[in-house]
Amino acid sequence: MIFDTHAHYDDEAFDEDRDTLLSSMESAGITRILNVGASLGGVQASQDLAARYPFVYAGAGVHPDHVGELDDDKMQWMYDLCRKEKTLAVGEIGLDYYWDKESHEVQKKWFRAQLAMARETGLPVSIHSRDAARDTFDIMKTEHAGTTGGVIHCFSSSVEMAREYVKLGYYIGIGGVVTFKNARVVKEVVAAVPMERILLETDCPYLAPVPHRGKRNSSLYLPKVVEEIARIREMEPEKVEEITFENAVRLFGER
Ligand code: NI
Repeated sequence: MIFDTHAHYDDEAFDEDRDTLLSSMESAGITRILNVGASLGGVQASQDLAARYPFVYAGAGVHPDHVGELDDDKMQWMYDLCRKEKTLAVGEIGLDYYWDKESHEVQKKWFRAQLAMARETGLPVSIHSRDAARDTFDIMKTEHAGTTGGVIHCFSSSVEMAREYVKLGYYIGIGGVVTFKNARVVKEVVAAVPMERILLETDCPYLAPVPHRGKRNSSLYLPKVVEEIARIREMEPEKVEEITFENAVRLFGER
């Protein structure tokens, strides 16, 4: 059984065959999917998918590229969504200094506000951090560590940083990138952190694993990620599946 802890099935890349694809998941062993919001539209679409499919759950949160859409009313709307039974996380939220769609101050303001929402509603967080490792870590450490926990999604920082997050009680999200030949550091991260802290994710439609690299990703390709983790850790793939599934249930649970 596989738990895809970070997916975007609301993306237009799935418009043609969303229902066919999602209907094939359970028979392929993908038994839980957390569909996270990026924009406000994505937050609503995640709720709609969770209402339609028993195995799909929703994250409520706005990605740093889209925080310009937020105001107090929109935050209140998300607070209400966070109290719904199938909302399992606040995310994806964080900082993105690569695209820099909003100023760093604006990004930090809404990152802090959404971390507070997670604390107040008792939900774990799904964190996006790109070219902003230091600021993300500092904010997590001072304003969130020891509260509701969470995952650093598509972890792309150093082994040292991974160890620091693990020390603070966070999980490390691993997806298709780990299968890339040039992903040396991500492979080292997988070797270095405890198995009990690794979560599987796709970030689909992006970041498909080898041999599908560059194509549309879906949870059906997660066995490729499992195989690579198993190779690095010298474990049976079945064991990797079992442990990562337990990890995801421990973090996100069901309410
Ligand atoms: Ni994402």
